Amino acid sequence: MEEAFEKTLVLVKPDGVQRKLIGTITNRFEERGLQLVAAKMLLVNKELAEKHYQEHKGKSFYNGLIKYITSAPTMAMVWAGEHAIEAVRQTVGKTNPLEAAPGSIRHDFALLTSRNLVHASDSVETAEREIALWFKEEEICEWADHHHELIFGKN
Ligand code: CMP
Repeated sequence: MEEAFEKTLVLVKPDGVQRKLIGTITNRFEERGLQLVAAKMLLVNKELAEKHYQEHKGKSFYNGLIKYITSAPTMAMVWAGEHAIEAVRQTVGKTNPLEAAPGSIRHDFALLTSRNLVHASDSVETAEREIALWFKEEEICEWADHHHELIFGKN
C-alpha cells in the first residue's frame, strides 16, 4: 500500500456530546494510533451546517439534519495519520449503525442513521474541503509523534 499521510475531519455530533461519549470516541482513534491535530467545541450555526451538508440538500432528511446539528454543541476534530481517512471511517462504521461492523463506534453506541453520533470525511477532496470549512489554518497544530515508527514503520 502506498504511503498517504492524511488529515480528516471528525465531528462528534450533538447526540455524542449529550451522551458524554466524546472521551470514548476520541479514545478509539487515539488507541488505534491516529494523531489529534485540532479540536474545538462549538454550537454550529445554520450557515456552517448548510455548507457542511451541501451534498444532502433536497434529500428527505436534510431539514431534520440541519435542525439537529444546530440544536446543541458539536465537537469538531482533525485526525492525522497514514490512510487516516479510511482508518477513521472504518473505526466509525457504516452510516447506518445497524449495518456497522461490531467494534465500530456506530455499531457499539448507536442504533439509528439519524443519530449516528459521528461524522467523518469520506475522501481526500471532502476532507480538504471540510477541514477548511471548520478550522482556520492556525488552529491546526501539527506535532511530531514519537510513536510514528512504532505505528507506521515499514520493514
Ligand atoms: P453523516 O456522516 O454526518 O453525513 C450525513 C448525515 O445525514 C449522516 O451522517 C446521517 O446522520 C444523516 N443521514 C443520512 N442518511 C439519512 C437518512 N436516510 N435518514 C436520516 N438521516 C440520514
